[in-house]
Amino acid sequence: MRIGILNSGGDCPGLNAVIHGVVGAASKLGWEVIGFRDGFEGLLPPGDYQILDSEDTVGILKLGGTILGTTNKRQFATKIGGSLDDQAENVIEKVGRTMKQLEIRALIVVGGDGSLSTALELYKAGFPVIGVPKTIDNDLQATAMTFGFDSAVSCVVDAMDRLHTTAVSHKRVLVVEVMGKNAGWIALWGGIAGAANVILIPEIEFSLDVVTNCIMEREAKGIHSTMVIVAEGAMMPGGEVVTQADKDERAGDVRFGGIGDTLANELARRTGKETRACTLGHLQRGGEPTSLDRILGARFGVKAVKLAQEGSFGSMVSYQSYHVGSAPIEDAVHKLRLVEPDSEVVETARAIGICFGDGEVSEG
Ligand code: F6P
Repeated sequence: MRIGILNSGGDCPGLNAVIHGVVGAASKLGWEVIGFRDGFEGLLPPGDYQILDSEDTVGILKLGGTILGTTNKRQFATKIGGSLDDQAENVIEKVGRTMKQLEIRALIVVGGDGSLSTALELYKAGFPVIGVPKTIDNDLQATAMTFGFDSAVSCVVDAMDRLHTTAVSHKRVLVVEVMGKNAGWIALWGGIAGAANVILIPEIEFSLDVVTNCIMEREAKGIHSTMVIVAEGAMMPGGEVVTQADKDERAGDVRFGGIGDTLANELARRTGKETRACTLGHLQRGGEPTSLDRILGARFGVKAVKLAQEGSFGSMVSYQSYHVGSAPIEDAVHKLRLVEPDSEVVETARAIGICFGDGEVSEG
């Protein structure tokens, strides 16, 4: 029996832990694992792959990135995404050739929303696909958590701790922009753990008057520095998501980024305070996974092999109530899991004095 594994989409700490889990569990069953390189593109004939045995995975559990390489939506996904047009059929036929030639009996796809949507298309076209949810953004449905998120939050908290001391020394406002696409999970968790004073996320509309007032109220109390954390997908009042000029036209993807600078300029103008912006960017995706992500990744990998053994194709590993189970891939994609504005975590943040920039300007 031979199975395949590929990573697709942005990299994320914990990918190698998944590979480690898959190879470990598969070799116990006497199965061979083929790792396809650079995402789905490794599936295109003649196939770009390497055979992975237990020796190849020695020491990778703790490594960031992925030993297999990955690609964002490019040639493959743009051809296969959406409806199966002529081009997509052609791609599917090509994938079929590779799968048949290599005698792959199960294909484990480790990816986020976009990549799992592609995995679903492949499953619907008749391929034996198993999904493993991956993203630092933590925005996938049908799983309470994805690996990579904890590592990203931990990077944000480390940065916040450092930025705090310089903000205090200079009596400045510091605006920290974090990743997350349209979801505010990284900003929310990173903001609470990193002791932000203001958290701005896409799910809660904010007013510049309220944020300005929060800073000035602190000033009046003799607290001269303020830490603002803003999710890259948050929108300036009356504006749109701030994006980079370049985008992947073919994949229809915009690249988020830039709200931190825009917001910092506006807050400096309104408060008259020295304000600096710091964009954490890809630091949040790089480096070694936290222990939680190492364990989650390994558990996800082992579960994916179990799903393959059961023949539960079209399903995805899922984490719910501290248990690693499964859910249909269909339930996880096309609709993001966003922060609920009235959730207990948001209420906790409000209770400890964090401002979300919403509501009315408080009197006094
Ligand atoms: O989805 C993960 C993520 O890191 C987002 O938070 C971010 O917007 C995006 O990927 C950046 O992707 P890239 O720079 O790889 O195009």
